[in-house]
Amino acid sequence: MQKNVLRSGIELSELGLGCMSLGTDIKQAEPIIERAIEQGITYFDTADIYDKGVNEDIVGSVLKKYQDRSDIVIGTKVGNHLADDGYPLWDPSKAYIKEAVKGSLKRLGLDHLDLYQLHGGTIDDPLDETISAFDELKQEGIVRAYGISSVRPNVIDYYLKHSDIETLMSQFNLIDNRPEALLDDVHAKKVKVLARGPVFKGLLTTNSNQALDDKFSEGVFDYTYQELGETIASIKEIENNLSSLTFNYLTSHDALGSIIVGASHVDQLDENVENYKRSKDISLEKLKAARNRVKNLEYTQHLK
Ligand SMILES: NC(=O)c1ccc[n+]([C@@H]2O[C@H](COP(=O)([O-])OP(=O)(O)OC[C@H]3O[C@@H](n4cnc5c(N)ncnc54)[C@H](OP(=O)(O)O)[C@@H]3O)[C@@H](O)[C@H]2O)c1
Repeated sequence: MQKNVLRSGIELSELGLGCMSLGTDIKQAEPIIERAIEQGITYFDTADIYDKGVNEDIVGSVLKKYQDRSDIVIGTKVGNHLADDGYPLWDPSKAYIKEAVKGSLKRLGLDHLDLYQLHGGTIDDPLDETISAFDELKQEGIVRAYGISSVRPNVIDYYLKHSDIETLMSQFNLIDNRPEALLDDVHAKKVKVLARGPVFKGLLTTNSNQALDDKFSEGVFDYTYQELGETIASIKEIENNLSSLTFNYLTSHDALGSIIVGASHVDQLDENVENYKRSKDISLEKLKAARNRVKNLEYTQHLK
């Protein structure tokens, strides 16, 4: 498995496991994580908010036996805490971040984090205070590197200019190609993109028809449901293996750090790894032809 290196030297497997869809039963989650390791995946993405901390608990306890392996990298996220009514409350304050990291370390069973990311945020946040929290955690050796997860150009721009982020996590796939517009700036700052939603909840898999009906019945972004179906059919004429196509599209960008693909079953994981391997065989001509058949999406909000 190819590795992509962050500025701090942390190596991420080019295909990472998005742990959000593992569920809360460790008996179901463990085989998926174990299989990911067998398949050469060494980067695992979680967040304190996933299943109210249970996801970090599960990831931590399954990966505990690999703690001697320096190549296994876990990234988690902070910024939302659960209010008493169970709803997430946004809090990017330094006091909160520096307290919350202790909970993530405990649940993951670690004494430091490889990668800590701000889980969202707006331009109205106390941005310099938030950045200072991450800088301090780095200086204190509690985190090795930090990043943000955002789809807001104004927020991303601020962090690129005023912080030491090493990663930007954003939804990114052949259909949701909005991040393309950010990539020159991201790459210039030697920041790596963590592409979440690479198979677009199953739309870019062999299960595309079902995913289209179940998850995109209202359409998405500039696409109506019908347009999305037609576009999927049209790119399938070029390459039937939609997952390999979207993985090839993502790896064609120099700024890519890792493709964070989720899986709720071992079979899905196996299929995703196989399609990642096959993606290397897709020609540039096919990629260009497929890219020409999808819309050029742009971020329309949070620009300033
Ligand atoms: N703001 C953030 O930071 C943020 C937000 C969202 C996600 N994430 C991270 O990114 C990861 C991936 O995001 P995502 O789950 O939205 O996107 P995704 O990887 O595009 O979709 C994962 C889902 O797609 C389906 N799927 C995956 N492989 C499949 C296959 N081979 N065949 C058929 N269906 C397949 C499964 O749905 P079913 O389970 O329905 O079968 C799976 O749960 C998450 O796990 C999480 O770690 C971060």
